[in-house]
Amino acid sequence: MSVKSKQMIRDSMDYVWHPYSRMNSCNEYNLIAIESGYKSWLRSVDGDQYFDAISSWWVNLFGHNNPFIKKSVMRQLDKIEHVMLSGMTHQPVISLSKKLVHLTNLDHCFFSSDGSSSVEIALKISFHFWRNKGLKKTKFAMLENSYHGETIGAMSVTDIDIFSKNYHSLLNKNIILPNPSPKSYESEKQLKEFALESFKKAEVILNKHHKIIAGLIIEPILQCASGMNYYHPIYLKKLRALCSKLNIIFIADEIAVGFGRTGKMFACQHANIKPDIMCLSKGLSGGYLPLAATIVSKKIYHEFLNPDIEKNFLHSHSFAGNPLACSAAIATLDYFNKKLNIDKINEKSKLFNQIMMKLTKYNIRNFFNIGMIWRFDLPESQEPMGFESLAREEGLLIRPIGKCVYIMPPYTSTLSDIKFVVRVLEKIFKRL
Ligand SMILES: Cc1ncc(COP(=O)(O)O)c(C=O)c1O
Repeated sequence: MSVKSKQMIRDSMDYVWHPYSRMNSCNEYNLIAIESGYKSWLRSVDGDQYFDAISSWWVNLFGHNNPFIKKSVMRQLDKIEHVMLSGMTHQPVISLSKKLVHLTNLDHCFFSSDGSSSVEIALKISFHFWRNKGLKKTKFAMLENSYHGETIGAMSVTDIDIFSKNYHSLLNKNIILPNPSPKSYESEKQLKEFALESFKKAEVILNKHHKIIAGLIIEPILQCASGMNYYHPIYLKKLRALCSKLNIIFIADEIAVGFGRTGKMFACQHANIKPDIMCLSKGLSGGYLPLAATIVSKKIYHEFLNPDIEKNFLHSHSFAGNPLACSAAIATLDYFNKKLNIDKINEKSKLFNQIMMKLTKYNIRNFFNIGMIWRFDLPESQEPMGFESLAREEGLLIRPIGKCVYIMPPYTSTLSDIKFVVRVLEKIFKRL
């Protein structure tokens, strides 16, 4: 490691409180000083190349240093960097909102800067919607093992202890529905049966408590942060219908699964459903700038058009609808139209899967692919952090979730990139 790299890492440890990091054991072996990025690759200060198999925490869609997105942001930089969105407007936020409303078939976009805030906003809007109608609905329903972010409200609909356990006494106690993803399954039929059984259990719970439930939040078809756990779309379809029947606002958290990750523009499309509220972030700006949107239906929006100030939604964030972030998002959506559409991404995914399938001959469990996401479980005996370090030494950036190793590369990755990923993983499997 060069002197420069060592110094950067030491300075970072001295001054930066890194996210999701155990700072007491943070050291020069688990920080990499990055200098630049190009397509699916990151380049360290020392000139080492790393394949970004996690799309930089799932935000990057079309590669690092993408000239098309960069150009759009640069053009906007020459006009204005930021303007507040309360009492003012600007073309990038208008153009982006039009595109998002068109894509989601919803009605109005509320902007913020990260996924957790977009969830927080969805929860507040849902609660406030019923309050405006004179109803006291103070609870939310969520899935077992759900993850929806790390602010107080978002944590209260997150069911993963490592994120929320310490803060339990601060959180609204919400209603957890049994997980519709089986631990393992042998056929589509089994997967569907499990989903239907889970739905029956959810139905009992929701029928019992619906009067106090403002909204239900769900990651459509794939629970990412708990280990890329897939469930059958029939569950989503039935749950959506039940929420309409019971007056529960249906919130789709598409923060991780949206924008083509699962082979459809939005994962809700696998079940052919439309939510009342959709949360978007991560890929929304192509991974360029912090941006999130909470998009609501006409029925919800109209509930807040009221002369009584208490019935208006007076939430705000300073950087809401930042023009630079919106310009990155517009270019990202244009990229889907002009350069790499969902069909082309799916063709690539099929091709990549043929290569990835080579991994199934090793000692792994529950290999699964959907769209541009691959996952498998390491054998019980394999310690995930050790596995991650071995991959890093070979130039492959992964971040296992427990025993689950997943590959979620930028869509612009090439066949030779994926061959590289498989070569590295095979090399490690052979060594173990
Ligand atoms: C499904 C889901 N919801 C919400 C969030 C929170 O987003 P952010 O990290 O931008 O706050 C994440 C982040 O990983 C996520 O995967």
